This record gives sequence, C-alpha cells and structure tokens, in this order.
Amino acid sequence: MTYRLKYHVCPEHGWINDPNGFSYFQGYYHLFYQYYPDEPIWGPMHWGHVRSKDLVHWENLPIALIPGDKEDLHGCFSGSAVEYNNRLYLIYTGNIYDDPEHITFHQNVNIAWSEDGIHFYKYENNPVISEPPVDNTYHFRDPKVWREDDHFKMIIGGQKEDGRGHVLIYQSDDLINWDYLGEYGHASTIDHEGKMWECPDLFRLNGVNVLLMSPQGIKEDGEKYRNYHQTGYKIKDTFIELDHGHDFYAATTMLAPDGRRILMAWMDMWHSEFPEKEEGWSGAMTFPRELTIHDNHLYMMPVEELALLRYESKKVEVTDYLLPSRQVEIDLDICDGLSLNLSNLYTLTVNNHKVTVMNQTEHVGTIKEYQSMKLLIDSSSVEVFINGGELVFTDRVYFKDTPVLSLNKKMTCRITTLSE
Ligand code: FRU
Repeated sequence: MTYRLKYHVCPEHGWINDPNGFSYFQGYYHLFYQYYPDEPIWGPMHWGHVRSKDLVHWENLPIALIPGDKEDLHGCFSGSAVEYNNRLYLIYTGNIYDDPEHITFHQNVNIAWSEDGIHFYKYENNPVISEPPVDNTYHFRDPKVWREDDHFKMIIGGQKEDGRGHVLIYQSDDLINWDYLGEYGHASTIDHEGKMWECPDLFRLNGVNVLLMSPQGIKEDGEKYRNYHQTGYKIKDTFIELDHGHDFYAATTMLAPDGRRILMAWMDMWHSEFPEKEEGWSGAMTFPRELTIHDNHLYMMPVEELALLRYESKKVEVTDYLLPSRQVEIDLDICDGLSLNLSNLYTLTVNNHKVTVMNQTEHVGTIKEYQSMKLLIDSSSVEVFINGGELVFTDRVYFKDTPVLSLNKKMTCRITTLSE
C-alpha cells in the first residue's frame, strides 16, 4: 500500500514544503507550493502549482516559477499571490547563497504574472525590493500581499539586528514600487517568540486583526512549543500555537469569494523522516480549513466542501473496528478518560481537560468542555478537530494497512468513507 494521500495535495514526485500564493482567480482556487521536482529532498526551490474549483479536487498544472535568474539564482522561495488588472501576480522571495555551505545569503522580493492563471512570466526588472531595510539581517523573506483600500500592502518576515524575529510592512500602488512603512511587530525575546518570523500573514477576521506566522527558534516550554519550529498567531500580545500536532508549518490564508478565511499549511515538519521518500515523493498540505474566531482564539474546521467527498456513512457502536478504507472521517463525542488508538501508531487520550496525542513524540493541548471530535484520516495523515475546531492536532501517521480504530470504551461513532 502506498503512503500517497488521496484527498490532500501532495506531489507526484519530488519534494514540497510551504503552501504559496493561495488565491482565487478566474473561477479557480490556486495553490502554489515550494517544490523541488528532481528528488524527494529539499533542493533549489521552484513553485509547483495546482488549482481547484471546489478546494477538494485539485488539478496539477505546470511548474509556475523556476529558479536560476540572477535575482533568484538559488531558489524561488515562499510568497503570495494577488489579482491586479485581470492578471494573477505572484510575489515571491529570490534566494541567492553567498557561499557553498549556505551559511549566509541574500533575499529579495520579485514578481511574476499570468493572464490565464497557468503560464507565468517573471517581471523583467526584478527584484522589486532588492534588499532588506536597516535593522534587519539577511533573513528577509516570504512576502504576503493583499489589497487594502486603493493600495497593496505587504508584510514580510525578517530578523532584527539583535537576533529577534520581526515582520516589516510595505505599501505599493502598482506592485512594482514599494514604500517601506516600518516594523509591524517583533518578538519579545528569542526564546519566547523566535529568531526569524517565517511566512507571516495578516488579516482581519470578525473585526479583529490576526498576525499569523511561523517563528523559528522558540524554546520548548513545558508542554508547549514541542515542534522543531512553531506556527501560531498574535491577536493581542501573546503568541498562541495554532495547531497542536507535530506536522503543521508555514500556514497561509486566503479570502474566498464568499468571505470565508481559508487556511492551508504544510502538513509536515522540518527534519522529519518522511518515509514516503522511498516512494519518490515527500510532503503534503493539510486539508483546507475555515478559520473562525471566538474569544480572541482562532478555531479551524475542514471547509464545508468536504461534503463533496463523502460517499458512505454509517453509525456504529464500537470498541475495536477495522475502518472501511484509509480515507475516512470519524465523528464521535469526546469525554473524560477517553483513549483512542489507530493501528497502534497513534493514540489520543483525554484526561481532566488535557488532550494528549502520541505519534512518535507527545503533544498536548487543553479544552474547556467535552463536546465533539472529528478525525480526518488519509493514507498517511490524521487531522483531529476537537469541539468544533477549538483544539486541532495535525499529524502524519504512516498506515501500512487499513487502520484499526480502538477505543477504551464502547462509543457510538459516525464513520464516513471519503472518495478521491
Ligand atoms: C519556511 C521556509 C521559508 C522559505 C521556504 C524555503 O518553511 O523556510 O521561510 O521561504 O521555507 O523553502
């Protein structure tokens, strides 16, 4: 059996990491991603490309950006997309290493555009921002652009001279000429909030400004920040982890035409083993999630288009149960003392409002009440949404066979098979 995911975006071959340029253009959702087509390992970054009419059936498209020009000599790193004058513009990081060991580098901002959403042309006078402002080291990447009133705004991740992560904000009227407006926010300390804020995003949800980012270098703190790098957000002063699983990074959002704020993230973590490498590919995206906000906390739930994948659903009362397929959705109540196991590879236990997931490493989160739980399983992933998205765990779990669900007490579960 293959580890290849059936209803999550993953490459046919080669390596993927961050989602890039998540956008809507001419009737399609577009998703680009960091891509190295030649081998299932990180290499000179291209932008891979898929599109979808419904967020669940994705069509592969030709590579959108290939590195190698003087401004992106060693990589087209992460960035975003925006529609302007009937074109889809990509705003991306150019990466140029200064030395063969990749110790220091130059990073800049470039643009490319397309009229059909398939073929992209790099702007001939790239870069549009050639270097970071003062008080920033050479870490300067991952521009996120959006339209605000009559302008384009951009935030970009950086590192202050003193080593703390921060984000910078720029403004433009034409995507070519950019004015630097200053620092938008910075880490309190390196240990608490990181040394480089990768993949920042800034959006308004229900009247609240949310700054989303993926800081490198936050120190583990008890049961918090247990991943190699973290992804989280700030609404007020505190940095809050967005997903409590092991495999969630570089999250990015887009505004759907119907007003929903939709998020996708890389469903992996730097320095993981990636057993799928033996099949010639590596990395995947999370299922798209709708974001909502409650008491200044972000909630994430699978987008409602998940319904398009459901084809057989039944309620069963079970303790041990062989699932009908490797693509399933499981809905059940959550209660104190519950322990759930999948093929002895993954366990989730609930104790006194604390939820612990064990999947090679242990991850912990807390909930206020005991309500419900939804699991989305694909061939090598498990995403758990608790209490309507209050607490989410995303993990790659490498099922060798059809998973067996085991519960420590008899419970009623709705088991729904998901098609491709
Ligand atoms: C985040 C990141 C970005 C960078 C890209 C390179 O995972 O390190 O900051 O643009 O990956 O692939």
